[in-house]
Amino acid sequence: MGTAEKQMIPAPGEPEGRTDEPLRLAEELLISRGRNRLCYHHPYDPALVVKVPAGPDKTQVDANAREYRGYQDLVRRHGMISCISHCHGFVATDRGPGLLCDCVRNEDGSPAETIWDLIVHHEECDLPSILAVAEAFCQHLVAHDIRLFDLNPKNIALRQCRNGTYAAVALDLKGRFDNNEFIPFSTYSRYFARRKLVRRSRQLLDRIVLYRQNRHRYQHLFQPPE
Ligand SMILES: Nc1ncnc2c1ncn2[C@@H]1O[C@H](COP(=O)(O)OP(=O)(O)OP(=O)(O)O)[C@@H](O)[C@H]1O
Ligand SMILES: [Mg+2]
Repeated sequence: MGTAEKQMIPAPGEPEGRTDEPLRLAEELLISRGRNRLCYHHPYDPALVVKVPAGPDKTQVDANAREYRGYQDLVRRHGMISCISHCHGFVATDRGPGLLCDCVRNEDGSPAETIWDLIVHHEECDLPSILAVAEAFCQHLVAHDIRLFDLNPKNIALRQCRNGTYAAVALDLKGRFDNNEFIPFSTYSRYFARRKLVRRSRQLLDRIVLYRQNRHRYQHLFQPPE
């Protein structure tokens, strides 16, 4: 049985587990939020998260469909790559339509943190290791022509392995077609996509250093500045 079907199994004695009822996303299940979506732990399946719109704006409501479309396109082109959080389709919730995705976890089972969380919200952080893993992740994207342009530190989780190393996982795939280009060169041309990916990678690395240096300025923000 696939992970997507697993969530349909009612938890023993849980009326919310009924398949004909929207999934109830209690406040304490909230992991984090972005500009467009709120991300919750799945109430019955620790392997999954459920993303729902953060508000009524069209961009917020459409974000899940955009991510799912981006995800399907990525898998069609690259197969079941390990550097992304995989999506498993939609589910009705009491907070609107939800998108089911793999929950990114550390090797010891605890929830993985994003680069943003590690560099802004922690007093101590191993900046050289974070920069090295972010750089290796970007190089992997460029080398395999994996077009993820929304390389924001809050869109990348770092899974901590037992030996102390990190592995980067992209957890927001909706920016794949957001090329903001009058003519979408980076969608159709490998050359332009590569150039853009290299530029975005450099920006990501520069911003990691900048956000870390000025973290006291950002700690009250739930999101990197625009
Ligand atoms: N698959 C996941 N596993 C664990 N945590 C996740 C996952 N997906 C998202 N999150 C958490 O939820 C936060 C917001 O998710 P996401 O980036 O998908 O929302 P968004 O509102 O679409 O983002 P943006 O502000 O970039 O538009 C992430 O920064 C991360 O903390
Ligand atoms: Mg995001």
